[in-house]
Amino acid sequence: MARGGFSSEFLDRVRAKNDIVDVVSKYLTLTRRGMNYWACCPFHNEKTPSFSVKQDGQFFKCFGCGESGNIFNFVMKMENVDFPTAVEILAKNAGLELPTDTENEEMKKRKHERDRVYAVLKATTEFYHKNLIENPNSEQAKYLKQRGLNQEMIKKFQIGASLNFDSLPEHLRKLGFTPKEMMSAGVVGVGEDNRIYDFYGKRLVFPIFNGFGDVVAYSGRSVTPSPEHTKYKNTPQTIVFNKSEILFGYNFARELKRERMLDTLVIVEGHIDVIACHQVGITNTIGCMGTALTTLHAKKIKQLVDNVILCLDGDNAGNMATYKAIDVLKQVGLNVRVVRLSGAKDPDEFIKKYGKNNFLEVLTNSIDCVDFVLTDSAKKYNLENNAEKNQYIQEALNYISNFSTPAEQEIYLSVVQKLVKIPIDALRKSMQKTETKPAEEIEENLTDTPSNNYILESKIMVLASILYKKLENFEDISGLFNSNDELSELYKFLVQKKNENEDVTVSSLFDNFEISKNSLIDRVINYVFPETDVYKQLLSDTIKRVKLLNLNNELKELKSKLSKVQSSEELTETLKRMQELTMLINKEKA
Ligand code: UTP
Ligand code: MN
Repeated sequence: MARGGFSSEFLDRVRAKNDIVDVVSKYLTLTRRGMNYWACCPFHNEKTPSFSVKQDGQFFKCFGCGESGNIFNFVMKMENVDFPTAVEILAKNAGLELPTDTENEEMKKRKHERDRVYAVLKATTEFYHKNLIENPNSEQAKYLKQRGLNQEMIKKFQIGASLNFDSLPEHLRKLGFTPKEMMSAGVVGVGEDNRIYDFYGKRLVFPIFNGFGDVVAYSGRSVTPSPEHTKYKNTPQTIVFNKSEILFGYNFARELKRERMLDTLVIVEGHIDVIACHQVGITNTIGCMGTALTTLHAKKIKQLVDNVILCLDGDNAGNMATYKAIDVLKQVGLNVRVVRLSGAKDPDEFIKKYGKNNFLEVLTNSIDCVDFVLTDSAKKYNLENNAEKNQYIQEALNYISNFSTPAEQEIYLSVVQKLVKIPIDALRKSMQKTETKPAEEIEENLTDTPSNNYILESKIMVLASILYKKLENFEDISGLFNSNDELSELYKFLVQKKNENEDVTVSSLFDNFEISKNSLIDRVINYVFPETDVYKQLLSDTIKRVKLLNLNNELKELKSKLSKVQSSEELTETLKRMQELTMLINKEKA
């Protein structure tokens, strides 16, 4: 089953009857230039065309704003509809009947279930919100007032109040919702006597929206501080809510992006921090709701922006979270800057104490994340002490050497230089030492360091070669793709399709992967092959290296096994295989 409940056969039929050039031509005037068609991009403002349509790959790509996709993505964006609707439009366009088999029945049932859950959530949100507005003397309303949140924000974020444990289930029952539907939505719990009760009873309720602005969950904050009440009660996982991909305020960021008013996102921890920022007009703020950022979060952010500023709580936990978040965010290619607040525990308190302008200034003075790591980790050491200073230098150089470009390295070396007051030349030399490793070690690193530029470029080239059918046999280079990144996912996908004897088109990748601009898969799709001779050499070098790596790994494993060998037959066999491997390795090296 492919995306949106449609089988991949059906999607392929829709694709076969809708050439991308025809589809795009319905909306834009395309001009042919060379191999491709061009137009001014419909997704950003421009005067000279940088929006290209590739007929052979059946996809579009804008070199200005980076948007890319297949016919389905194009229609989704132009018509502002979801995937199933885009498929429907294109199927109708081609005179194809939508499938009505059992597969589709199952899909309809699931869709119905989801629709009911969304309806429960919508009714619940309205109910809570009305409670709050109509009861200005409730504890919840008083709490909000005391926190300084104004009516405009209460409306924008649809904040609400649960006044007791029974009214909500009662209200929902009257509207025709079953207890099961209420449970699926995560708004009620079941008590000992099997009675259902409001899950957020007596709390101040913050709805959590998905990217389209639909409520998918809640955080209920206790307004009567007591050790028996957890501060926040959050919706558990439901069929519409997955905490590891939802960010508080993302829907508003998406709106800003659509109005082309978004360049950088500020990431804060708490709900109230997000709302406090919005209240003073800093609307490019989203919240991680106190959880560690996941790669899914990071990818969602990368779909909107290239730049983020991390502004987590000022405490120790916030510092730890900052380190973790930097790794996750950098991995998807975001530029990450960091703010560490002082004089206030979080952005909300900071704004209250020092005002909007001072907060803006703090954001402006945010520092590059590597700069932050280098400066902050120096605090662990007493740099007056030579041994500790040396330790710090080792740690810092190690960190820096993970960053590939020489220009970046120079910038970061100068940061370290200022801290340790050692001539930058000396640092540069020590750095070269950490970098030049014996040949064997480099081979090992083929799999271990995704930050190694050479390996990354090799992977991209190899995958592009497979995708564009320049490389037929690729099962024996799996050693290159055993890390946990999206390139490895793509590789596994390509191998699987080959085993199933299915042809992979560029267009079909967009159905199976979330491809944001400048992501690794995006780079594979848009890989520009070097001139033939150079390319052939590069490809054969890479494949040779990978094969060598695999052989070396096997040899190493056998070596370590030797001491544990039990029988003499096993010993003979192991030695024989080791000899074979050594021969193969020498042959490959020659
Ligand atoms: P905070 O404790 O800082 O809460 O946790 P806050 O909303 O910012 O409120 P104050 O003003 O500092 O007191 C930050 C975020 O962590 C999540 C919530 O999303 C919260 O906004 N959290 C915190 C929970 O989910 N559960 C908890 O028990 C505590
Ligand atoms: Mn807080």
